[in-house]
Amino acid sequence: MAKINIRDFNNDDLYQVASLFASSFREDFNRIVKLPDNKMAEFIIEVGEVIPFPFPGYVIAESDSEIMGVMILRWPKQEVHKNKLRLSKALQYGLPATIKLIAMRYLFPERPGRETCHVAELAVKENARKKGIGTALLEYGKMVAIEKGLKKYTLHVDAENGPALRLYQRTGFELIKKRKSVLARWLLGVKVWYFMSQDIGA
Ligand SMILES: CC(C)(COP(=O)(O)OP(=O)(O)OC[C@H]1O[C@@H](n2cnc3c(N)ncnc32)[C@H](O)[C@@H]1OP(=O)(O)O)[C@@H](O)C(=O)NCCC(=O)NCCS
Repeated sequence: MAKINIRDFNNDDLYQVASLFASSFREDFNRIVKLPDNKMAEFIIEVGEVIPFPFPGYVIAESDSEIMGVMILRWPKQEVHKNKLRLSKALQYGLPATIKLIAMRYLFPERPGRETCHVAELAVKENARKKGIGTALLEYGKMVAIEKGLKKYTLHVDAENGPALRLYQRTGFELIKKRKSVLARWLLGVKVWYFMSQDIGA
């Protein structure tokens, strides 16, 4: 595979990022509305499930102008663009889909803890996995966090997501808390979430 370049998101990346999220989280999105991958990408753009604007911590892994991975980091006092749910667009996909999209907003806290960099999203294109891109994105994120003087690096993961769990354990994250949520189970079929963390910086 050609060299991987990690860089900030820009507006021209939107459709590729939406496609990557649509295929990487296919099962999750299918629980909201059943659509093929190309239509799902349009859906998540239309309703505001993918952030269309750049901000610090919105990071892309690219190879030969093709987007191979995406990561979104959150930290306190970050200049961040939030993805507002577009209710009128969502309603075109029906009331159950709209209710689920609203409920998704309540799954995780918007604000990361004090002195913390939180990995809010991480996905690598299916045909580019197991080549070190996930690891490279996490290492890049850690470097950004250390440069900002942050002390903790955290994330949530579905306890049954084997590839992600192995990646996080291998890159130094430790299990801090097991969380159960009726909302997460209903929305995503997730029985248990792991909250993981590692200390970073000096
Ligand atoms: C989880 C995810 C981000 C991992 O990304 P990835 O790019 O495949 O991660 P890496 O390539 O760095 O590591 C994956 C495996 O490939 C191995 N690997 C890395 N480079 C390799 C190479 N050059 N040759 C062979 N194997 C390699 C790693 O050792 C690791 O093995 P392990 O699973 O036994 O630990 C990816 O599977 C994904 O997008 N999944 C769907 C979305 C998702 O679940 N996101 C996480 C939500 S919390």
